[in-house]
Amino acid sequence: MVQALVLVGGFGTRLQPLTTDTPKPILDMVGRPFFSYMIDWLESHGVDEVILACGFLPDQIQEVLGGGSPRGPKLRYLVEPEPLGTAGAIRFAAPYLAERFLALNGDSLADLDLTSLWESHIEREARISLGLYPMEDPSDFGLVEIDEEGLVRSFTEKQTGAGQGLISAGAYVMEHEVLDLIPGGRSVSIERDVFPLLVDNGLYGLSLDGYWKDIGTYDRYREACWDIIEGRVKSGVEHNAEGVFIAPGAEVSSEAWIGPRAVIGTGCRVGAGARITDSVLLEGCRIGENANIHGSILSPGVTVAEDVAVRNMVLGRNERIDA
Ligand code: GTP
Repeated sequence: MVQALVLVGGFGTRLQPLTTDTPKPILDMVGRPFFSYMIDWLESHGVDEVILACGFLPDQIQEVLGGGSPRGPKLRYLVEPEPLGTAGAIRFAAPYLAERFLALNGDSLADLDLTSLWESHIEREARISLGLYPMEDPSDFGLVEIDEEGLVRSFTEKQTGAGQGLISAGAYVMEHEVLDLIPGGRSVSIERDVFPLLVDNGLYGLSLDGYWKDIGTYDRYREACWDIIEGRVKSGVEHNAEGVFIAPGAEVSSEAWIGPRAVIGTGCRVGAGARITDSVLLEGCRIGENANIHGSILSPGVTVAEDVAVRNMVLGRNERIDA
């Protein structure tokens, strides 16, 4: 049995107002709750139990995802009394975790090869193995350096102009005994407080093939949508080159211009002459005739009046943009 503990307790502040009353794991992404892509990814690497380490709005997450689909991995939920940080949340789950398990951040869209990570972890007799991902411009992330055996040599904080490098993809294989290194009852970060303790002491990294994107900012959330629709990441969604997805139940005028790159959520209505490019409209938005939406994300229930232009904006639930 392979178990995955997934951290989903964060507030998702960088995605507000999209995440003000909808936690990141169930934010809609191309017609599905985001976390369903994670479940498929984990299942494809043999995971049969997913434990969600929750904090912010746990009931909503549980209501949407439930116990898992009958043939997929079983889903279980733990709720921290207060945010314990990425390592604190893993320690909090200790009584439920197997001798060896996967731990992941719950906000990445990915199809990375977790099976290789698991196998190399066993071969190397590692204590923690970090899934690493090569990035052209890693300036938003910390860099991880490994030697030819895969031993982690150093971590470098975020910096600009660093050039191509390996970043941590927030996906780890861990031995249960390392949880003893995490102090209990307070907020502890795995990246800052735990990994440095294990350099030269069983901490390995492996560069993984495949796709990876942290969806935690507006731009990356939209990019992830296009990557799903245009087929750059393995997912069950049908591809098309224009990057357009219109959910069943959306009413789009045959005289509207949709795309390139647009998601029109279920229950949306788009009037004649409207133009929607590079934008995501979540459930139930109303777009008036000849309105022009570009580079934007609209929360559920947004109304845009006719003839209005909305450019590079992120709108909160039920906002109205009038002429
Ligand atoms: P921002 O507020 O925009 O930084 O987003 P975030 O709250 O998701 O934080 P961040 O992206 O740094 O978190 C990475 C992952 O860890 C996300 O999947 C979070 O849900 C999760 N996470 C962060 N802090 C905690 C915590 O204290 N407890 C739990 N259970 N999960 C956490």
